[in-house]
Amino acid sequence: MTSAAPAETILKSSHLLGIEQLSVPEITALLDLAETYVALNRGADKKTATLRGRTLINLFFEASTRTQSSFELAGKRLGADVMNMSVKTSSVSKGETLIDTATTLNAMRPDLLVVRHQDSGAAELLSRKLDCCVINAGDGSHEHPTQALLDALTIRRRRGAFQGLVVAICGDVLHSRVARSNIHLLLKMGARVRLIAPRTLLPADADRFGVEIFHDMKKGLQGVDIVMMLRLQLERMSGAFVPSTREYFHFYGLDHEKLKLAKPGAFVMHPGPMNRGVEIDSAVADDIEVSLIQEQVEMGVAIRMAVLDALSRGLAKEGRNAP
Ligand code: CP
Repeated sequence: MTSAAPAETILKSSHLLGIEQLSVPEITALLDLAETYVALNRGADKKTATLRGRTLINLFFEASTRTQSSFELAGKRLGADVMNMSVKTSSVSKGETLIDTATTLNAMRPDLLVVRHQDSGAAELLSRKLDCCVINAGDGSHEHPTQALLDALTIRRRRGAFQGLVVAICGDVLHSRVARSNIHLLLKMGARVRLIAPRTLLPADADRFGVEIFHDMKKGLQGVDIVMMLRLQLERMSGAFVPSTREYFHFYGLDHEKLKLAKPGAFVMHPGPMNRGVEIDSAVADDIEVSLIQEQVEMGVAIRMAVLDALSRGLAKEGRNAP
């Protein structure tokens, strides 16, 4: 089947580097386009020819299950040729730099490059050096734009609108690119954002984000519509940010008892992967009455299809890498 999406340009930029640069109409248009892909993905025939002839490269310098596999599926369902670069067995292991790796791949004329890297700003750097569209799949603690977009799609499908919603983002905000992208997106769309975290897991400038800050989870959860839990990123911690994971769960782990403080009918989200029993109790994570975690994963494929579709429209308009 052919794409049901309208062909008008959605994004002003040729790249998706962060939510900070997106306007409300651009975010809304991406969510609307993603809705068409939710419907497509729920059907028997999930393929379109929207990206036929295009080449997508996934270049992940950090581990990923959800983001990499959903970009791969998204590209394939849109008809692109998809190559997953295995960084571990590539010449990166011989010391080749990010720029040299990316420019080498660029010479093979991909149309879209999805990159995840441990350094904040890596995707932006590549966007200035390469001819293809660059999509940030997570750069250090900076941004993870497609995660925020899929979270927004999940929330909009459940709540209809963002205006007036109260969303609590809880846990390791300091190391979280997911939190940064979600703060940008939710505030732009008119939601109220609360950050709930110990002082050691909040960025020093968090009071300038335009959010409410709580260190007591029981106070912070009162009256919230959405509880967005964050993974405790132990791999990014060089010192002791929390006394112990057991104590962390006692004060900041979400269980049914703490969830009762939120608004009746409040939903729980988590970008994954989860540390069960550390930031979230399995009984909450697996409770299909409240947990949207699997729905977030489903929306991830649709959002990534929408992003690839939107960026490829820009390529066609500019005549760059025209098939
Ligand atoms: N949420 C997220 O980015 O998950 P992965 O690390 O599995 O891609």
